[in-house]
Amino acid sequence: EEPPAVAAVPQAGDPSLTLLRRIGVVDPSSLDDYRAHGGYTALRRAFALGPAGVIREVTDAGLVGRGGAAFPTGRKWQATASQPDHPHYLVCNADESEPGTFKDRVLMEGDPFALVEAITIASYAVCAHRAFVYIRGEYPRAVRRVQHAIDQARARGLLGDDILGQGYHLDIEIRRGAGAYICGEETALFNSIEGYRGEPRSKPPFPVEKGLFGKPTAENNVETLVNVLPVLAMGAPAYAAIGTARSTGPKLFCVSGSVDRPGVYELPFGATLGELLDLAGVRAGLRAVLLGGAAGGFVRPDELDLPLTFEGTRDAGTTLGSGVVMAFDDTVPLPRLLLRIAEFFREESCGQCVPCRVGTVRQEEALRRIADRTGAGAADDIALLREVGRAMRDASICGLGQTAWNAVESAIDRLGAWT
Ligand code: NAI
Ligand code: SF4
Repeated sequence: EEPPAVAAVPQAGDPSLTLLRRIGVVDPSSLDDYRAHGGYTALRRAFALGPAGVIREVTDAGLVGRGGAAFPTGRKWQATASQPDHPHYLVCNADESEPGTFKDRVLMEGDPFALVEAITIASYAVCAHRAFVYIRGEYPRAVRRVQHAIDQARARGLLGDDILGQGYHLDIEIRRGAGAYICGEETALFNSIEGYRGEPRSKPPFPVEKGLFGKPTAENNVETLVNVLPVLAMGAPAYAAIGTARSTGPKLFCVSGSVDRPGVYELPFGATLGELLDLAGVRAGLRAVLLGGAAGGFVRPDELDLPLTFEGTRDAGTTLGSGVVMAFDDTVPLPRLLLRIAEFFREESCGQCVPCRVGTVRQEEALRRIADRTGAGAADDIALLREVGRAMRDASICGLGQTAWNAVESAIDRLGAWT
């Protein structure tokens, strides 16, 4: 049995926090304990507001998606709720697979009833009566705990028919992934649930119009959904006062690599990268920080005053993504690290479109040549990497191919790799 993810939360149970407050404090198997710690007050408020009122509150709070793309949650819910085609579905994307991301696991293992309550609210808002949670296959404990929470909620009238006597009915089903990174892409995930190969579909149409089983679907990340609870509990204005004007609320960051206390940290948007690394105990000899995971970009040690917001990281030419912060000191060989990232993308490409299927192979080959020659004579290979990277970014069907060259490009342009 793997160690509990809650061990990876240095701030576990800190009452001043919003999302991690119950982690390590509440008994994840007890509905009564969850209720004793504030559970199910948000759902009661949701029923009082009605579906349109919930969407208005989430919109006013400025909540944007935490899976990595920061799309406005209220807009997604409104677009789904307004579709005339029925049934509508709610899908929780818990296929957390971005290298260096482990926050959703902590939430599911440490506070599973929060996710069940949040899914209930989201489904109510978008007029769905069936919801799915697609959980990464490598997270067996999360599957067990969320399933237990679903069963308990159903037994106590918080799922199933006539929830809390409000005439609303909902069932939640878990689907397990089988180890493919691409199944975290929202439309590949639909195909996987439907029993097809996990290959992304072209967008548009967006899932809000044609999603799971071709029906209107709101798909949200675990952390996004769990944020709906404080939005309703504290009200949109109070929630929007946390963070910055354009990145509101608290954010979970997954810190790993050359730090003394790796783990999941909660900070309001707008805290700086340096403040986060101070909490995690960054080691001497810091060489670079990778933000946003394998699809993200590098930041130099002289850029640690970077504000951790979607807009701040974008303006600085990188990305916050799903909150990955990987620190590398000068003992980490950069060429090997980049080669490892390239191997990952080549391995996880679904092979459906040529730019990505071929481009990820060519990228890996060039990086292997450079790594084997310790960078000597790299100019031709760097030119080739740029050409291949441009083709992948411009012509790939989905985000995997479009971002497979991001980290390598930023290593060359920001860290001056091989120059
Ligand atoms: P995207 O920008 O295409 O879409 C984001 C969301 O907004 C989707 O749900 C999409 O359906 C919706 N959307 C976009 N435009 C819309 C419109 N006009 N109308 C209605 N809905 C619309 O991004 P994508 O490809 O879904 O996600 C990319 C992100 O995923 C990257 O930033 C990456 O960091 C992150 N990612 C996270 C992983 C994890 O494990 N958490 C794994 C891999 C990638
Ligand atoms: Fe598949 Fe890559 Fe094309 Fe995405 S970009 S559809 S992962 S081949």
